[in-house]
Amino acid sequence: MKKIIVAVDGYSSCGKSTIAKALAKFAGYTYVDTGAMYRGVALYALRHQLEGEEVVGALSDIHLSFALQNDGSQHLLLNGEDVEPYIRTLEVGSKASQISPIHEVRAFLVAQQQEMGRQKGIVMDGRDIGTVVFPQAELKLFLTARPEVRAQRRFDELKGKGEDPVFADVLADVNERDYRDTHRAESPLRQAEDAIVVDNSELTREEQMQHIISLFQKAID
Ligand code: DC
Repeated sequence: MKKIIVAVDGYSSCGKSTIAKALAKFAGYTYVDTGAMYRGVALYALRHQLEGEEVVGALSDIHLSFALQNDGSQHLLLNGEDVEPYIRTLEVGSKASQISPIHEVRAFLVAQQQEMGRQKGIVMDGRDIGTVVFPQAELKLFLTARPEVRAQRRFDELKGKGEDPVFADVLADVNERDYRDTHRAESPLRQAEDAIVVDNSELTREEQMQHIISLFQKAID
């Protein structure tokens, strides 16, 4: 059976990683969470108190990789340290959104992402996968959901992690990130012309998964 590249793009907190992970598992493909890579760079910048573009000078000191866990999930390693427990906070997410428009940061991460896809058999999620990283991807999905629905999911996720979020703050953060992701000069989030849009506001996870598996099966035929 032919191996393909699946690009999964879309807004923050619309369930991209859950779907991409589940599809990778179904297909026996490698899953790559590119948001984690931007978060890894952001964590490094926060730890070293690097402001604005100062992080560019530190890129050669930042080594990112993924470690496959026994349960099939991947953990981000930053210079060999498992930083998975630290990169999912609002603070790191907000810093990631600030450093992700920087051209050198993107070039640094995109090159690594392209290398990871050389053998195909990969499901990669992010913002620019179908447009910049793999414009030749055989299947491009663009996931979306209403901002309120995404904010509620993010709120529940943060609560589940023991944080004490305020819903209005989470919604404001979602809207702010959408704006920044779609308006930045460098690789703004946009739908590739040949991407298939999946709005999951009203879909259960199972309904969505069935739909995506049928799209995948068509793509490998
Ligand atoms: O998907 P996420 O919330 O983990 O992403 C964190 C930040 O990184 C978010 O502001 C968007 C940015 N990002 C990006 O610019 N390009 C990607 N391919 C992935 C994430």
